[in-house]
Parts: sequence; structure tokens; C-alpha cells
Amino acid sequence: MPSLPTPHAAVVGLQWGDEGKGKIVDLLTARYDCIVRYNGGANAGHTVQVGTERYALHLIPSGILSHGKTNVVGNGVVVDPEKILEEIEGLRKRGVEVGSNLRISDRAHVVMPYHKDQDAALEDLLAKRAGTKGNGGSIGTTRRGIGPAYADKIRRSTAIRMGDLLDRDLLERKLDTICSMRMAELQALGATIGTNPGEVAPLVPRELAARFSAAGERLRPHITDTVYLLHDAMREGRSVLFEGANACLLDIDHGTFPFVTSSNCSTLGIPSGSGVPGRAIGKVYGIMKAYSTRVGGGPFVTELLDATGDRIRTRGREYGTTTGRARRCGWLDLVAVRYSTMVCGADAIACTLLDVLSGFDELKVCVGYRRADGTVTDRFVPDAERMSEFTPVYETLAGWSRELTDCHDRADLPDEAQQYLAFIEQFTGTPIELVSVGPERTQTLESARKVPVAAR
Ligand code: GDP
Ligand code: IMO
Ligand code: MG
Repeated sequence: MPSLPTPHAAVVGLQWGDEGKGKIVDLLTARYDCIVRYNGGANAGHTVQVGTERYALHLIPSGILSHGKTNVVGNGVVVDPEKILEEIEGLRKRGVEVGSNLRISDRAHVVMPYHKDQDAALEDLLAKRAGTKGNGGSIGTTRRGIGPAYADKIRRSTAIRMGDLLDRDLLERKLDTICSMRMAELQALGATIGTNPGEVAPLVPRELAARFSAAGERLRPHITDTVYLLHDAMREGRSVLFEGANACLLDIDHGTFPFVTSSNCSTLGIPSGSGVPGRAIGKVYGIMKAYSTRVGGGPFVTELLDATGDRIRTRGREYGTTTGRARRCGWLDLVAVRYSTMVCGADAIACTLLDVLSGFDELKVCVGYRRADGTVTDRFVPDAERMSEFTPVYETLAGWSRELTDCHDRADLPDEAQQYLAFIEQFTGTPIELVSVGPERTQTLESARKVPVAAR
């Protein structure tokens, strides 16, 4: 491996998703040759605004909107073939080129319709059993079949990979074994197999094989060994930007388990999800919004269930890109963000949606968690049960009234906004290199200022 600094970088969410990763990847794409998704699936919704055009990307890397880039869906992604075809068609209709600039790993696992049925059936069952409140009960998944598809990957013998779609006989043989087993599993989860509304259609191996080998044929030009593709590109001097989906606090190992997604969405998922060793990555951009949001269930220490939370939701237009659900909103949790910068090895922070905080007299940031016995910790605990006893310890900072959407330089920001950013830098020990004050590319302030990094 070269001893020179490597040109490859990663963008990763430091909270519970929807931090504006799509916007930042789109912005940074100009500096890289290949943009790579390494985890998750169509549970992700990355919005990119180019002028007045808004694009919502779910499976395709955000680099697709820039000309001349290679966009890779890595082996760690779970691909819903029909959804990605829909996404390709949607982009083409809007004049976006999708051809040899999109490569999909032959080893990426396939999300089948029964995975979505399983996801929904389990969520319904959990909701029925334990109620639908934030803690306990259902996870509040996107119902895109993500968990069941990754479960099949780990189970091995019931998994289908993108490469398998290119061999109809092999696919049908696999589905023969899978379908009868899967119908029994669905029934055990409370689903009724039948053709009436609300029932799960019987799984017929032959029909599914025909449907998904047809999708595979349409995707054939894109399916390849992306591990060699990436290593060849890097050897030829091309640079790679990894685009994290979901976010560190939803990471299966390091997030608020079990209210997480089923992949390693932190940067720790990059090596396994792309075949590129971690040491190849020279820079990690951690993306955080200036407050907190989360969709679905699970602990959220700084959640605001009041008018302040509603105000953040309205100003930030906090409704899901993938499911349209209202996002839960709250003050910035710096204990959580500092933990994520540590786990992801973030060298720099991009702080997005700062504009949303204009107009508040004061702003709170969480700097510790108070346990039920009154003691305080400044360490994150990635376990939902143990986190449920925490209440926030806040530091109060001054707010600002001016709208920020027209600021073009960090020095133009009101003093209070600059102090807010400086507090984040100090607390996390990580410099903020990018500040976003609106969804458009131009609404981004790049900081030349290098902040001394304190010990984490
Ligand atoms: P991602 O999943 O991390 O890519 O984020 P999403 O696209 O799901 O959600 C972020 C939302 O905020 C999108 O609608 C973006 O267009 C929007 N956005 C990104 N940055 C900013 C910003 O600085 N200010 C405002 N007001 N909106 C932003
Ligand atoms: P982006 O990439 C926000 C959440 C779901 C649910 C949990 C598990 O747009 O930031 P899953 O369907 O993955 O099994 O759901 O994870 N979740 C996200 N929340 N943004 C995302 O992606 C998410 N991806 C998954 O809401 O709570
Ligand atoms: Mg999103």
C-alpha cells in the first residue's frame, strides 16, 4: 500500500439518518471519480437539489447526477431489483444518464417480495403485541424488506445474490427450496396466504423466477464484480468516495440496538461492504444536522414532543424521503454525535440544516445523560433498554434571529451561529469544514479555518 496520503474518502451520517448525506455527496462528487454505496438498501432516501430540480435517490449513489462518474452499488447493499429499475427509469425520464456509469455488485444480495412481506408481518405482529409507542413494540422499519434480506444473507442457504438473477435455472432451483419454507414462516408471523386484499399471495417458484430473471436481464449490463472494478480504478489513480446510507446510530453493531437497521452503516461497514480495505480511506466526513431527528421507534434522549419540536419539523420539512413519515425532532445530542465521530473516525464534520435554527431565543445542546439514580454520564450507550432511563443534561446557548439561507461565507453568520458551531467543534474535538444553510449546492459554506482538535 502507498505511504502517501490516500485520495479516497467517505461520507457518513453521525445521527439517525437524513442528515443531508445526499446533498454533501453531490457536492463532493466533483472531487472524486467513483461514488460507492456499501450498505443498506431502498430504506435510504437521499435528496439532492440541483437548482429547482429535486431528486430522491434510494439505491443509486448520489454521484449519478454528475457527469462522468462511476457509481457503484457495492456487495454490502441489499438490492430490490424492481426498485432499482424504477429508479433508473425515473432518472432517465428526467434526462439523467444511466448506463455504464452504474455498476452493481454481482454479490449484492437481492430483496425479494417475500422479504417485504416478512418485514411487514413482523412489524404488525410486534405492534399488536406491545403497542406502538417509541420504546418497545415494532421497530418502525421502512418495510422495504431490509432486515429479512440481510437475515437470509447471514443464513446463506436461503439467499439470492444479484449474479443469481442472470441464471434462470439456478434461480428457480433456489426459489423451490425457499418458497415453501418462506410461506410457513410468513404464516407463523400471522400472515394469511391467499389472494384476498391484505393477504400474502402464494409464492410460486416458477413465477418468481420468471419475474426476477426478467429484471436480472434488464440489469445485466450493470452487474459485475465491483471489487475488482474498484481496485483496478484505484490502481489506475482514480479516487473513490464512499456514500454511507442510514447512519452510525442505526448501525447494527454500534447503534441503539434493537432500534437499528440491519447493516453496518458506520464507516466500519466500508471494507466488508465494498471489498476496499479501511486503510485506503484518507478522509471521513461525518454529516450531522444542527439538531436531531429520527424516524421509527427507539430511544431519543433529546426528543421534543412540544411546540418547539413541531417548529423544527415545520422549518426543516422533516418528513421522510422514503416513507413520508413525520420525523421525530429534538435538540442536538452532542453525546451521540461525539460517539459517532469516534466510531466512524470522522476527520471533519459537515453541519447541515443550520438555517432551520434561526428564530429561536435560545438553543439547547445535550452534553450528558442523567441516569435514573441522578448520576450523569457523557458516554453514549448503544442499547435501547439501557438508554431508556436517560434524561438530557443541557447546555443552553444563545440563538439568533436572522435567516441564514443567503449567507455565503462562514464569517457572514451571526455571532451566535458561529458560537454554536464552535461549541460543536470543541465538544466533539472535530473541525466543521462544511456548513449547509439550505438544500442547494450553492447554500454551502466551506471553512478554511482549521480548528485545533482537542482529545476526544
Ligand atoms: P440524507 O438521507 O442524509 O441524504 O438526507 P435526506 O435527503 O433524507 O434529508 C435531508 C433533507 O434536508 C433533504 O430534503 C434535503 O434537501 C434537505 N437539506 C439538506 N441540507 C439542508 C440545509 O442545509 N438546509 C435545509 N433547509 N435543508 C437541507
Ligand atoms: P437515510 O440514508 C432515517 C430507520 C427506520 C427504522 C430503522 C430500521 O435516508 O439517512 P429498516 O427499514 O432499515 O429495517 O428500518 O431504521 N432508517 C432510517 N431512518 N434515514 C434512513 O436512511 C434510514 N434507514 C433506515 O426508520 O427506524
Ligand atoms: Mg434520507
